[in-house]
Amino acid sequence: MRKMFIAGNWKLNKTARETAEFAASLRRALPPAAHTEIAVFPAHTSLAAAVEALRGSSVGVGAQDVAWEDSGAFTGEVSGAMLKEAGCRYVIIGHSERRQLFGETDKAVNRKLAAALRHGLTPIVCVGETLAERDANRTLAVLDWQLKEGLKGFTAEQAAGWVLAYEPVWAIGTGRNATPQQAQEAQAFIRGFLIKQFGQAAEAMRIQYGGSVKPDNAAELLSQPDVDGALVGGASLEVAPFVAIILAAERAGTSRAAAAMNR
Ligand code: PGA
Repeated sequence: MRKMFIAGNWKLNKTARETAEFAASLRRALPPAAHTEIAVFPAHTSLAAAVEALRGSSVGVGAQDVAWEDSGAFTGEVSGAMLKEAGCRYVIIGHSERRQLFGETDKAVNRKLAAALRHGLTPIVCVGETLAERDANRTLAVLDWQLKEGLKGFTAEQAAGWVLAYEPVWAIGTGRNATPQQAQEAQAFIRGFLIKQFGQAAEAMRIQYGGSVKPDNAAELLSQPDVDGALVGGASLEVAPFVAIILAAERAGTSRAAAAMNR
């Protein structure tokens, strides 16, 4: 059974001081969550503050990006070893904002995945179509291509524990989320791809949905069989909505566990 996973992607928000303050209030507000893994993804310069402030809590910390190289003349880059030493457990790879605004390609995603693997970081690999691609009925073809190129060459053993995120570009930061049915259709397709490449191991891989997840739409999205959590942007910047989404995941995870017991 797959455990729910709620990840807060803070993007270009929160200084180290703001991160420490947020983490302290999150700890106070955090419900017990046996069926939900939780993590936040601050900016690189706020990672250490997040790790320090969340030490001993159930909230993990991850980075928003990683260099594909380990060291050398790569101005502006941060390596997997640096992230690991800062206390990161996870890293987001191939977010659509990196793809669209910073020219990140599927080949880059593939190399960054190798870097995450070398340094023992759990990747959250993002895929998703633009509005034009959806309107042209190309959603599944785009996902297929991104997965084929991004995950190329990795074995089931290497991919154990990896997380995917389906993030339709038209739903990110727009307030317009995919319907639960659209999310399920795309995520079932992603699951099918993973099963083709990795076999049975893919049944254990989590697939998050991302794109305008809010307290009022989380429960329905998270009740879909192939939606194993959420990658949350805007609604993860304040404690109350983030906790509300964690609670929705916990409820969905609890019913999953009950269903599994009854099988
Ligand atoms: P959003 O961002 O929740 O603000 O739409 C999601 C994401 O980009 O990961």
